[in-house]
Amino acid sequence: MAEEVSQTTVVQKKEFADQPSELILDRRRVLRWIGWGWMWLFITAVFGSAARFFFPRVLFEPPTKLKVGYPSDYTIGTVSEKYMQKYRIWVVREVDRLYVIEAKCTHLGCTPFWLSSEKKFKCPCHGGGYTPEGVNIEGPPPRPLERFKVTLTEEGEILVDQAVRFRGERGEWEKPGAYISV
Ligand code: FES
Repeated sequence: MAEEVSQTTVVQKKEFADQPSELILDRRRVLRWIGWGWMWLFITAVFGSAARFFFPRVLFEPPTKLKVGYPSDYTIGTVSEKYMQKYRIWVVREVDRLYVIEAKCTHLGCTPFWLSSEKKFKCPCHGGGYTPEGVNIEGPPPRPLERFKVTLTEEGEILVDQAVRFRGERGEWEKPGAYISV
């Protein structure tokens, strides 16, 4: 039995010795490349983790201040949808004031429509309705639409600050910044 094994080993060694030296070299080269590949993966993983530590993820948010033209661009007694698509706001011009309403339903956050013929905002999700001032009058919305801060720049342009809100149910619509006098 031992003799058989040793004979097999001799035969295998002979086969190996019979292989061309280029083939052996190629195998070694492939093994070396695999080794380097693993090494690079390891280094990349280590440096990638270190980079994330030194450069934490930062969320870049869009600017909150927007210019939406001049008061004279808006017709008295109308709700303008000019910036609805871009900024999700309505600009409302009354006889003596102008304010900006966020187009976000206070029920579950859907985007209502302005129905000019019915003179109201209507939410398509659950039928909520609001007056042109943004007061909730029908359906499930629990409170009025919110308004953004508005001021005039030195050049007289309307500047909307979406970072500052005014809520009607808290009596904030008469506060400075909730509207501009025109
Ligand atoms: Fe507007 Fe429900 S989200 S009524």
